[in-house]
Amino acid sequence: MEYKLLDGKATAAAIRAEIKQEVEDIVANGGRRPSLTAILVGNNPASKTYVANKEKACADAGFTSKVIRLPEETGEEELLETIRSINEDPAVDGLIVQLPLPRHIDEQKVIAAIDPSKDVDGFHPISQGKMLIGQDTFLPATPMGILTLLERYNIETKGKNCVVLGRSNIVGRPVANLLSRKGYPGDCTVTMCHSRTKDIERFAKEADIIIAAIGIPFFVKEDMVKEGAVIVDVGINSIEDSSRKSGYRLVGDVDFDKVAPKCSYITPVPGGVGPMTIASLLQNTLKAYKNRK
Ligand code: GUN
Repeated sequence: MEYKLLDGKATAAAIRAEIKQEVEDIVANGGRRPSLTAILVGNNPASKTYVANKEKACADAGFTSKVIRLPEETGEEELLETIRSINEDPAVDGLIVQLPLPRHIDEQKVIAAIDPSKDVDGFHPISQGKMLIGQDTFLPATPMGILTLLERYNIETKGKNCVVLGRSNIVGRPVANLLSRKGYPGDCTVTMCHSRTKDIERFAKEADIIIAAIGIPFFVKEDMVKEGAVIVDVGINSIEDSSRKSGYRLVGDVDFDKVAPKCSYITPVPGGVGPMTIASLLQNTLKAYKNRK
């Protein structure tokens, strides 16, 4: 089958250009710039890259942004205190705490300390609860990016069988919820599969849409996929590759080369969901800014 790429890089670039234009108009009319603060605790290399990318995206869009880098050994109370002071800072619209946090810090406690009106990651229990019952709120950036990508490519979702691989709070669980909601992009019949699911292949084979967020390189093979399926690959897995200068390369959860020919649409890795996550974070930050005006 002749498959089409769901080009997250190009779609995200278009969204970022729209946001940049909107910010230019705001500033030209005397408004202040939207502003995002990110807190990064410790030295997780992937987290460092993600935060640097977010910082650059903010600068490109004309947002003001700040990264607060705290050492690995930062205490939980010190982190909570930092969050409280940003909550109260009227110059900050959006606040994110990059995950994962060092093991001695209670992640849920930290997320719950963020003012829900600044929770542009959509991780706060209030944001997640609102999402669950379909109220207006900040949607978590990766699920939101996936929905936007399906939308911009006019992918039909109504009545489709959608299989979500993975049940994380950040991706699997929220994206399953969102695709089962009324309206577009939604109205899917969603099955959430995970590490304890018996016979994942059987479910995957029935899927019109597969969202792979399981964190295992090349997990989705061609014999698990129905002809004409739409596949969104959320995986970012680092595997050894001696042909690269770095010694590694990033691959998704889908065995792309073998699976793509069976698909109608599929996201590449990199250049699929990753860039959409950043675009969604900017959209949420702009939304937080507008809510506060
Ligand atoms: N870690 C992995 N994805 C995310 C994300 O979208 N936001 C934050 N804060 N941390 C993450």
